[in-house]
Amino acid sequence: MSNKNLNIILLCAGKSSRLKFNLPKVILPINGRTLIERSLENLDKLNPKKTIIVTGFRDDLVTNLVKTFHYKNIEFVSQKTQLGTGHAVKRAIGSLDKSSTVLILNGDTPFVDIDTIKQSISFHSKNKSVFTIATSFPKDPKGYGRILRDNDNQILDIVEERDCSSEQKLIKEVNAGLYLVDSVLLIKHIKKIKKNKNSEYYLTDLINIFARNGLDVNSIPIKDERKFININTFDDYKYAHDIDKMFIYEECIKNNIFLSDPGTFQKDFNVKISKNVSIGPNVILKGKTEIKEGARIEGNAYIDDSTIGRGSIVKPFTSIEGSIVGSMTQIGPFANLRPGNNIKDNIKVGNFVEIKKSSIGNRSKIPHLSYIGDTEMGTGVNIGAGTITCNYDGVSKHKTIIEDNVFVGSDSMLIAPIKLGKNSTTGAGSVLSSDLPADSLGVTRTKEKHIKNWKRRPKK
Ligand code: UD1
Ligand code: CA
Repeated sequence: MSNKNLNIILLCAGKSSRLKFNLPKVILPINGRTLIERSLENLDKLNPKKTIIVTGFRDDLVTNLVKTFHYKNIEFVSQKTQLGTGHAVKRAIGSLDKSSTVLILNGDTPFVDIDTIKQSISFHSKNKSVFTIATSFPKDPKGYGRILRDNDNQILDIVEERDCSSEQKLIKEVNAGLYLVDSVLLIKHIKKIKKNKNSEYYLTDLINIFARNGLDVNSIPIKDERKFININTFDDYKYAHDIDKMFIYEECIKNNIFLSDPGTFQKDFNVKISKNVSIGPNVILKGKTEIKEGARIEGNAYIDDSTIGRGSIVKPFTSIEGSIVGSMTQIGPFANLRPGNNIKDNIKVGNFVEIKKSSIGNRSKIPHLSYIGDTEMGTGVNIGAGTITCNYDGVSKHKTIIEDNVFVGSDSMLIAPIKLGKNSTTGAGSVLSSDLPADSLGVTRTKEKHIKNWKRRPKK
């Protein structure tokens, strides 16, 4: 099926009354990422024609959050009073494209993965189904709607837990909360859902309406019940954190990634990690970070929107943002790479070094206590301890250029704009404010004086 035909309805209006947080539950974070963020990250990968988000309870919190993600083709529909999932979908049908396949997903089901959704969509289209639901067989079906089938195994209805007879409660097959339905038939039949004795309109009543009208409802079974955990209670919310860790750990093991402390590892959805990477405790990988083969992140590191090259080592207590680090390079301990760096191969950036908007050539070394900002550094450069590129004059930022094989003596102040030519050297403690020609020494030290027989004043 072409995704041009795909419309998505994400149900996010509920009050989460069972959680008692007084917040829409879709904005609750699980290990740092909200439920709605997790759903949208997946749904965006389907490239749908549009995603309609039904909001209601404290809707501004949901819409404001979603806007920060900058996804395309998102529409919001408001469900002022939350009269059930059927009522929420009714609110959205006015926004549907005339002839589309509609994927309806509960907003409180954050672990449905992209493969499962894609499998469901292709099942739906291959079988020319008009209505497909995902079902699951959890160890404990409590709380879920049970699937009722006839003797020919055809789906007849879904009965919610609270409406189940004691016999129906024994049914193991449950509604996972993912539906695919033809838009024309959805629009035609959704109106027929009646208010039930709980004063709600259940989306699940649509199954029976289809069945009664001779329209087959098909199902796709989902083996891993953890993918369909929905967050209703405080215990569900707590469990979701553990499941999230479990999924990440399993994915790492499968891909030969070694985690020394899975409990403290955090990773965003779009982070890519190659095989043979090892990761120590308290590591947070965010945004579009990529860790290439054989790299080692030793621990207590924060890496956001950055690439760490093959075989490179990030020593403990290092922060790296918006930077590219090449291969066989060592960063840290206690290094701070701010956005905009391109740090090439076989480089050493040591402790208490801050680098911003700079490019560092192969084999250069900045081993200790330096600030390098707005700098273009060549290859084989050595930066002595305490060096500062003075890039800011209080009004504007200026560039420093350090050419190949320059040796910068310790505690040099390089007042930008400035260029140190190839093979040049600066004397320790110098303050340089003009370009240094290639192959020369720049030194601004005052002449050393020795006063003989100097006695310090005695202590009182
Ligand atoms: C629902 C299903 C149940 C299924 C389970 C799977 C119904 C009637 N029941 O139950 O069969 O097994 O999900 O997870 O659909 N929402 C709205 N507006 C409303 C009410 C809810 O947008 O008026 C949203 C909620 O924010 C939530 C989603 O719909 O994201 C599901 O609602 P929830 O109340 O959690 O349904 P369940 O009781 O879990
Ligand atoms: Ca739920």
